[in-house]
Amino acid sequence: MNIKLEYKGIEQSKIESYQSLVLENHKLLNEKTGKGSDFLGWLDYKSSLDEQLLGSIKEIGEEIRDKADVLLVLGIGGSYLGAKAFISSMENYFDKSDSLEIIYAGNQLNSEYLVELLDYIEGKSVYVNVISKSGTTIETAIAFRILRKYLEERFPEDADRRIIATTDVEKGALRKLSDIKGYRTLPVPDDIGGRYSIFTSVGLLPIAAAGIDIDEVVEGLKAAIADFDNENLSENTAYQYAVIRNILYSEGKKIELFVNHHPKLVYLSEWFKQLFGESEGKDGKGIFPASVLFSTDLHSLGQIIQEGERTLFETFLNIEKPKNDIAIEEDENNYDGLNEISKFSVDDIDKIMLKATKEAHLEGNVPYIDLKVKQIDAYNLTYLMYFFMKACAMGGYLLEVNPFNQPGVEAYKSKMKALLKK
Ligand code: PA5
Repeated sequence: MNIKLEYKGIEQSKIESYQSLVLENHKLLNEKTGKGSDFLGWLDYKSSLDEQLLGSIKEIGEEIRDKADVLLVLGIGGSYLGAKAFISSMENYFDKSDSLEIIYAGNQLNSEYLVELLDYIEGKSVYVNVISKSGTTIETAIAFRILRKYLEERFPEDADRRIIATTDVEKGALRKLSDIKGYRTLPVPDDIGGRYSIFTSVGLLPIAAAGIDIDEVVEGLKAAIADFDNENLSENTAYQYAVIRNILYSEGKKIELFVNHHPKLVYLSEWFKQLFGESEGKDGKGIFPASVLFSTDLHSLGQIIQEGERTLFETFLNIEKPKNDIAIEEDENNYDGLNEISKFSVDDIDKIMLKATKEAHLEGNVPYIDLKVKQIDAYNLTYLMYFFMKACAMGGYLLEVNPFNQPGVEAYKSKMKALLKK
């Protein structure tokens, strides 16, 4: 296992008592007999690991890198968050000179965003990857209509060639439009819902276009699929994580704070929140997933975490090896008094901050789960994201909800449709 899991504030015997329940749910998943079993294609990602499909994704990714200054990724929810989380976790904070610029749109309805985007892409070579399984999501459809018209005017010769649509193989408005226009298309498998779709064409094309090695992603995915297909609770950290969350929830810990200490990983937190929020939050149940970045948020939310209502637990994502580290050098005058800690590097101090925070919060009755990952690279990030998906599926079954549907999301849509018709 490439992920180490530790915890404080939970009794081990309680965790062990879940083995038979875990086994039952493991069977429901593997035998596809549980709730939402039509949406288990992500368990082995069989349709996405097809060599021919991966070849096309790499080829289109290279073409985009070669010909475009900007790739616009249009999609919302599961149709963009995975790619954005993955790509932003991997890129340099400041130096983007090596990478294609990727801009996400169609994930809200802000007019200023679209107008400023149109101004910004003027004079640049633009490709569009529009991603929508249903093909009818209003945020994405509006952005696509506006950007499609823009592309057709700016690139009359080859606008249709600059558009790649990732959508259902047979149904939906985007499929119909793609067939009429002759866009190149990539499939969203029928049996994989949005929030589990990162390792299908949905996530893989933007990831490939960002210059990330898809083969490393595939390797990480295969390893994770094999490692987390283990019914033994004491050996499966994904299941342990699901069980611990379930115990904490039953003890009144209704909010999970997903803790990051790398600003780059902030979108991973957003992806995490969608995955767990949309999967568990139904039938009047579910842990509310929230996120913080430490130490930044210790100077804002730290107070309420330490002393507010005791309904929280924390899940720390610890990255053991940063890509770079930097020393705090001795200073002759030591006016800032930092010579005392100059034997530590910045990363050492970051880790000491995390240790101190965990201790302080535990004393404040905030139990925590510690997830340790060696480093962030394509292999380990893929492995980690699959870990969360597997934990989420088990967690949903432990809560006795269907972790693969999202009926609640329709409520605002139907009200909006009614208002738009008036
Ligand atoms: O997880 C989900 O199912 C949602 O977040 C969808 O991905 C999102 O609503 C976008 O749907 P679509 O891909 O059909 O445009």
